[in-house]
Amino acid sequence: MKRTIIDNKGIPPLAGICSYEDACKPGFTVDRSVELLKRFNYISKGLNQMLAAHLARVPEWEVKCAFGYHLWLDAEHSAAIRKRVSEMREPPLGLDQVPDEKLRVWLDEAIRGDDTIELLVGFYRVIRTEAIKALNRYLDEMNRITEHPTYRLLRGMLQDQEEMLAWGEQALAALVDSPEKERHAEQWEQHLQSFLREAGGIFGDDMLVACELTPRSDGQKYEMDPVPRRDERFIDPYNTSAQIDTYFWDESCSQEERAYSLVYKRLREMDVPEWMGPILYKIEGKPWEYYTDLSRQLWDETRHAMLGEIGLYYGGVPFYKYPIPMGASMILNTDLSPTEAHLILWRIEQSLMPKQTGKQKEWEIAKDTGNPIAMLIQDYDWADEVLHAQIGRKWLVKDYGSLTATTEIADQAMKVWSEADTKTAAWSEQTEWWPQLIEELRENVKKLAATSG
Ligand SMILES: [Fe+2]
Ligand SMILES: [Fe+2]
Repeated sequence: MKRTIIDNKGIPPLAGICSYEDACKPGFTVDRSVELLKRFNYISKGLNQMLAAHLARVPEWEVKCAFGYHLWLDAEHSAAIRKRVSEMREPPLGLDQVPDEKLRVWLDEAIRGDDTIELLVGFYRVIRTEAIKALNRYLDEMNRITEHPTYRLLRGMLQDQEEMLAWGEQALAALVDSPEKERHAEQWEQHLQSFLREAGGIFGDDMLVACELTPRSDGQKYEMDPVPRRDERFIDPYNTSAQIDTYFWDESCSQEERAYSLVYKRLREMDVPEWMGPILYKIEGKPWEYYTDLSRQLWDETRHAMLGEIGLYYGGVPFYKYPIPMGASMILNTDLSPTEAHLILWRIEQSLMPKQTGKQKEWEIAKDTGNPIAMLIQDYDWADEVLHAQIGRKWLVKDYGSLTATTEIADQAMKVWSEADTKTAAWSEQTEWWPQLIEELRENVKKLAATSG
């Protein structure tokens, strides 16, 4: 029903956001909006933690990639909601408090998924589907003009969630390939749905149904298993016979070998997101900005390994065909503390900043090789690493008082790491494989030239 006719000269009124009728909707009060945003925030924060807790232990690289990406989106969503809540005259914010004990129980079950199928069912099929429902309901019921900043925020979140869910469903369709696995996926979905029903959904106002099931959780914080795992495609994961860090410096090596040692160096970064997972999950009580910074860095490191994967694809080689060392994440996750692991990461990144020996030089070498993918990869890798060195400095130096003190402590951790590192080298026969890869790449160049010419 139109209440009156307004002459807008044919121009969309209200900045094109909605009609006058929609703009008259009661929507949510500021108090209710804050309450709901706090529930959304709790879900985003929970998802960030769940993915961080499981990234190292899921064996499929493709799942690790998506976890690395999605946990950053979840961290960003939480950051954006926190900012929005802070604009709504609601101090104290209480953004790290549990908004509803029953939501906590639900998420506590989901993080206890065991294999990849359960994790994907929980984090995607159940939680992200519910998040999408809740976001759609909010967008539908809200007044888009009165709380327009919320509208813009949630609309962006919805799009991200839909994309993440689509990935999760495609991954599940691939992994759930037998009636047995279907039953397994269904059982876990039912399990989590029961705990969600007891919470009354993310809004908390659905009809509450008591849950009769025995929870996996004992009510304590989930103890993550930090041992990194990779699936059966990955061979000889402790083989460090290739001197990947030196080949690109060596002017007697062919340009091809120099370019691909840089590409392989990026691929080898698979262990960095594996070792950052425990840093994100286990270090508690920091401001949320710490978790967004580290989530971004974790995603960058995942991307760096993905860039290596792409670089090898460009050369016609599947990423898992030759050994990708896993000793660093194994040692850092099992023999050292998350704080030591963070110090080591920062120390490595800091050491890559000098012009003549660091990232700039890697990029210059890549440029000289004439390999366009290696050059592009190194260009952005360099930019990302400058940011990472700043992130490390921002969070670590204030804990240790000064740059010198932080460097000293980081060097001690580096020493412990390098001593432990010799242990994993003994877990491989160290059969040489690098010349074979270079040979294969050379052959591929010839083949590609023959087909294109
Ligand atoms: Fe990196
Ligand atoms: Fe980095």
